[in-house]
Parts: sequence; C-alpha cells; structure tokens
Amino acid sequence: MSKKLFIETLGCAMNVRDTEHMIAELRTKEEYELTESLEEADLIIINTCSVREKPVAKLFSEIGVFNKKKKEGAKIGVAGCTASHLGEEIIKRAPSVDFVLGARNVSKITEVVGKKHAVEVSTDYDESTYAFGEYRTNPFKAMVNISIGCDKACTFCIVPATRGEEISIPSDLLVQEITKAVESGAKEVMLLGQNVNNYGRRFGAVEEKIDFTGLLQKISGIDGLERIRFTSPHPLHMDDAFLEEFASNPKICKQIHVPLQSGSTELLKAMKRGYTKEWFLNRCEKIRTLCPEAAISTDIIVGFPGESDEDFEDTMDVLEKVRFDQLFSFKYSPRPHTEAATYDNQVPDEVASARLTRLQKRHTEILDEIMDAQLGKVHKVYFEELKPGNCVAGRSDDGKLVFVEGSEELLGKIADVKIVKTSRGALDGVVLSGS
Ligand code: 5AD
Ligand code: SF4
Repeated sequence: MSKKLFIETLGCAMNVRDTEHMIAELRTKEEYELTESLEEADLIIINTCSVREKPVAKLFSEIGVFNKKKKEGAKIGVAGCTASHLGEEIIKRAPSVDFVLGARNVSKITEVVGKKHAVEVSTDYDESTYAFGEYRTNPFKAMVNISIGCDKACTFCIVPATRGEEISIPSDLLVQEITKAVESGAKEVMLLGQNVNNYGRRFGAVEEKIDFTGLLQKISGIDGLERIRFTSPHPLHMDDAFLEEFASNPKICKQIHVPLQSGSTELLKAMKRGYTKEWFLNRCEKIRTLCPEAAISTDIIVGFPGESDEDFEDTMDVLEKVRFDQLFSFKYSPRPHTEAATYDNQVPDEVASARLTRLQKRHTEILDEIMDAQLGKVHKVYFEELKPGNCVAGRSDDGKLVFVEGSEELLGKIADVKIVKTSRGALDGVVLSGS
C-alpha cells in the first residue's frame, strides 16, 4: 500500500512549483500518493513563505495543531523560505518537526525524509541542472522555474537571504522540460523566477550567453506551445528590446506584472529598487503604446520606513496614471536579515493601515470600471478547469478569469468567448460558434 503525503503550500508561484517538485520526487522515488486528509497522512509537509511576518507566526501554532491531529508515527517536515531562514531553530522550538528543508534544497527531499531531525538549508546549493520528476497540478498549463534565487538587494525583502544568489537554468534544459509538458497536453507555460527578466545573468555548471528576450524567442519555437506567461519581472530590466518582444511575439500573453512597490522616487531609493517614478511611468506608457490591450498588474507596499504623506501621494498618482488591472498591496512588514528592518523611522501602524485602505478602495473603483468595460468584448480563452454546475473556467490572453457554460470537451481548448456579464473578480461569457 502506498504511503500518503499531505502538503500545504504558502507564498508565491515559485513555492507552488517547489511543491510540485517535492510531490514528483516523493511519488517516483518513495511511492507517496497525495491526500487531502491530514489524519490519514504518513508525511505532512508545510511549504512556508517568509516574505511577511504573519505566515511565519502562524507556522508554530500550525505545527502544534498538525502534531495533535496526525496519526501515530506520521512525520512532519517544514520546507520553503521560513525553513531557510530559521533552520534548526524550528526543531528547537518544535521538536515534533522531523526535518527542515530550505527553499534552495528542494531536490534533497527524498534524502531528508528518511532522517530524524535532518536540516538542509544551505543557500548556495546549485540545483539548476537537477532533473526533477514530472508532476503538474494542472495538465493544461506548466509552471517552469527558469532561475533560482535573487541577486537584488531590495531593503525590505528577505528573499535573497532565503533563496540565495541568482542562478539561471540552462536554456536547453528549459526547452526540453517545456517540450515534455506540451507533449503531455499543456498549451501554456508560466516561466517563473524571482526576477525573470534578469535571466542569463549567471549559470552554474554550464556556460551560456542568452538573456530573457533571447529565451522568450527560443521557447516560442516549441511546436504546440501556444501561450507563454512569466512572473515576476523587475521594472529596472524592462529594456526596449524586451518590451518589443513582449508586444510583438504572438505566443506571449498580453499580461505583465510591473511591481511598483512605491511611487516615490525617494522611497524607491531607500528601497534600493534602482528606478525612479519617471522610469516606471515611462515603462508602463511604452507597454500601453506598443500593446494597448495588455493588462498590467503590480505590487505596492505602504508604510515603508520614512514614507511621508507626499511619498504616499506619489504612489496614488501612479495608481491614477497607470490604472492597474490587478493590485497586490501590502503593509510593510519588517523582516529579519533585511536592511530596512534596522531603519529607525518606522511608520505607525494606524497610518500604514489608513493608507492601505485608501489605496485599495481607489483601486477597486478603477477595477470596476475596467471590468465593466469588458461587456460585449470577445476574448480568446484557454479552458483549464471544470467548475461545479456545468461550468468551465479559463483565462483570457490578458489573464482575466472567464467562466462559460460547458463541460469536459472544452478543457484544453482555446476559443473565442463573448463577455455577457462582468464582476470585479471574473467575467461570464458564451463560446462563439465556430471558434
Ligand atoms: N513587507 C511587505 N511586503 C513585502 N513584500 C516583500 N517584502 C515585503 C515586506 N517586508 C511584497 C513586495 C513583493 C511581494 C511579493 O511581497 O511587494 O513584490
Ligand atoms: Fe514567500 Fe518570497 Fe519565498 Fe516566495 S520567494 S515563498 S514570496 S519569501
């Protein structure tokens, strides 16, 4: 009888892909099968995020709950970014944890699973050429890591400390991996990295000269691959060649994440982001000029140390000018191993909360206008998931969630859909005949 694995994933898309890698390794080498029931699991893994404080605080109470609920003899492992930054402290604080596996050590999952109190958290481990087993949550789209780690030094961000120096995965290996996914039914790929458009900066064992634009061109050559998405790019590395490739390559979906963080040039400097408010606006304008149909999403932090009312007004000003299709907004959270956590000009919590509320409220108004304007439009939708009630969900080229009436036969197909109803989070449509 196969052993059962329960795995919980927090954090970003890279963590979601790391989880798929762990599942693949445990299935092929250790004969584990996934379960959604904690009580029947032989192995429980929490794949953690440490980008903000909240999920870290939750981890230890969660370990306590899991330890009470788990069946006799079941193991608990902590993986991911919090594993990287707390290391063996996790076992000291919670001895019921059997192993700790850092975000840069995913390929060692089958090694640590058999050892009591193993801790593998080195942040200079190079697994850029490791061939992980195959496992995908959704057969219609493939997530593929193109680089590991991050070379930036944004003063708010813990990721360089948890995922280490940036290393790119050789382009031939990426083509092989994507080709395999396409052969097993995926028409869409999501290229993942902490800083995807810095691809090619450094390789491990292999010598290669290629940048992100070159990689996009190379991947576009894969037969049967119809859609390419990527996240997260950095505004600093959005040169003209990259934006022109984005706009003109028909396989690249017209959805782009341009993480602002702050609209104030002074704050961007304190954050060590490497660009100004003007550069950011210029890049968004360039995207809109080259590709008016593109959806632009962003990340914004409010309450970064020293953020004045004027700084925040700059952020609001960028929101008005760009009118983002999607906003991920956060209150600044001081993190260990980061420069900004040592700044003595922290913003009071009530000020940050009020700014966050104002930002989100205005964004919601803008979003309602954007979504309302979709009524009657026709989108090319790639169907990827069945929903209850004879409903199929898919994504438009520009990343909007679209529901239509239908069943299995739509899955894995791309069709023209006319939007008949809109709401803030999704669109309802009808498939146009003959598409
Ligand atoms: N506090 C709040 N938000 C943060 N992010 C990263 N670090 C912090 C922090 N210390 C946000 C950034 C980033 C997103 C993934 O998380 O906006 O782009
Ligand atoms: Fe969280 Fe960042 Fe780690 Fe992703 S890379 S899991 S967002 S800390």
